[in-house]
Amino acid sequence: MIEHRISLRNVGKINPARIEDYMAAGGYEALKKALQTPPENVIYEIIQSGLRGRGGAGFSTGLKKKFTSEAACVLLECMHYIVCNADEGEPGTFKDRIIMEGDPHLFIEGMVIAAYTVGAGKGYIYIRGEYHKSIEMIHKALASARAHGFLGNNILGSGYSLDIGVKLGGSSYLCGEELTLLESMEGKRGHPRIKPPFPAERGLFGMPTLINNVETLSQIPAIIINGADWYKRLGTEKSAGTKIFTISGDVKSPGYFEVEMGVTLRELIYNFAGGIKDGKRFKTALLGGAAGTFVPEAMLDVRMDFEDLQEKDAVLGSGAVIVMAEDQSILNMLHSIMRFFEHESCGKCVPCRVGTKHLLMLLNKISNNGQNKRPHIDALLHQSEIMAKTSLCPLGQSPVLAIKSAVRHFRKELQETQLT
Ligand SMILES: Cc1cc2nc3c(=O)[nH]c(=O)nc-3n(C[C@H](O)[C@H](O)[C@H](O)COP(=O)(O)O)c2cc1C
Ligand code: SF4
Repeated sequence: MIEHRISLRNVGKINPARIEDYMAAGGYEALKKALQTPPENVIYEIIQSGLRGRGGAGFSTGLKKKFTSEAACVLLECMHYIVCNADEGEPGTFKDRIIMEGDPHLFIEGMVIAAYTVGAGKGYIYIRGEYHKSIEMIHKALASARAHGFLGNNILGSGYSLDIGVKLGGSSYLCGEELTLLESMEGKRGHPRIKPPFPAERGLFGMPTLINNVETLSQIPAIIINGADWYKRLGTEKSAGTKIFTISGDVKSPGYFEVEMGVTLRELIYNFAGGIKDGKRFKTALLGGAAGTFVPEAMLDVRMDFEDLQEKDAVLGSGAVIVMAEDQSILNMLHSIMRFFEHESCGKCVPCRVGTKHLLMLLNKISNNGQNKRPHIDALLHQSEIMAKTSLCPLGQSPVLAIKSAVRHFRKELQETQLT
């Protein structure tokens, strides 16, 4: 398989700071086409394309638009919002940054089209504060889009108006979670809200809100130009299109690669990332970042799409692939992941606030106890399962993924090694 670039098609080819370059490459043609089409037909096309959210959850992008467009306001003054999730906090994930720095107009164009489909009157890009270059590029791109009539009042004479603002996040992993993100945007502490209601019904300031990831939005212009049937032919039956994978760790050429969904893990590691460095053997890859799963060598031929991975109790998540060579320690990696969760836990609910500390304690016991580690490994599993059932939000429900997969595939190693 070779790279197939949709979200990254202009990256490295055009000057991202010049809207003229983007337009010369066909930019904003999709917006022109969409604005001449009734919003419900645009939504239908996106549903038919099979595009699913690239932020991690994989929900149908078209259906989310349909629900948001149909949502009635509960407050007297009604305004639909659109929010682009550019928080990108998942360890090992750096795909959105490449789009924002390398071709910011692409996802902005997708965002304006998405906003039009739900009738949003105002949009925001919520971006992590450390992404200085991306922030600068986005501000420039928004200003030139306004100057060319692609944003603002009566866009391209269509009668539709939208402006987009930028909100900076404070580098909290949890603030990438959509409901916590909304709290943060409203100026409150980054604590999650209870679902339902979902953002489509009651989102920003209580209004129906469409939230999409940068990569998701960047796929929309190509769908509008080429049609749903073209898009559906890419990828696999239920995971259509292309996906950006970010490969890091013990590979010769770490980086980002956009390929059709369904590429195998082996192809990603050996064809795209050059194989394992220093002549070592592959041991495992952590798929989906900290909220992800370990896969062993026996699963190198798994197809990287939502269904195939789910069938094997693994996750695609944000597309992060963190590769570990034969001499890396699973116990060290688990410890580092649990330290991350302990640090990022917002402390609102007991199972996660206390549970993340307990998981770290158990990992230390597993490392220290030279005799029988089995009870501690079982307790680690049990504790993470309890957290998955009782925690208030997905953060506390996530440690079970890494722990379960590590114990399933590497129990013997966990019993024999110590933290270094
Ligand atoms: C703890 C946590 C962190 C998340 N961080 C991000 C993030 O940084 N960027 C993102 O797009 N989605 C993130 N998500 C997923 C969002 O909640 C949401 O599903 C996504 O923004 C929806 O957009 P999509 O449908 O285009 O994928 C996170 C979810 C959780 C539980
Ligand atoms: S699960 Fe963790 S992050 Fe989520 S509300 Fe509870 S303490 Fe906060």
